[in-house]
Amino acid sequence: MKRSVSVILLLLAGYAQYSFAQQAGDGLTDQQRLGRQIVAQACGVCHLPPARNARTYGPLLTKGAGGGDESVVREYILNGTPRMPSFKYFLQPAEIDAVVAYLKTVPANK
Ligand code: HEC
Repeated sequence: MKRSVSVILLLLAGYAQYSFAQQAGDGLTDQQRLGRQIVAQACGVCHLPPARNARTYGPLLTKGAGGGDESVVREYILNGTPRMPSFKYFLQPAEIDAVVAYLKTVPANK
């Protein structure tokens, strides 16, 4: 019993290291990484598929969002739509900049 617990712990430690290495080698700037984190936390519930091939409530967010126009993307984030909440009072301007910078790194047909 004790032995299997330590095997699991070892596996977990290996996984943590693996995901850290993956993050460090992702080629993103700190700002883009912050944006990715905000998208996962604040937008993921509607814009990220919960499983492979699962449908999302909102469209997938990529560099093509808002027709590829950064000011349209900002408009969505600031004011929302009837189906999407506004983030004007929730995100700081620097956080919105980070989201916009991150979305530019997401390939359009993914
Ligand atoms: C409650 C669900 C919900 C959340 C949370 C949400 N959105 Fe949306 N979003 C939508 C929906 C739905 C649409 C599609 C437009 C519509 O139907 O109003 C949309 C559309 C968009 C679009 C335009 C997409 C395109 O293809 O042009 C952008 C950009 C966007 N959202 C960004 C964000 C960002 C960034 C966040 C997080 C800060 C976010 N959204 C959080 C539901 C959401």
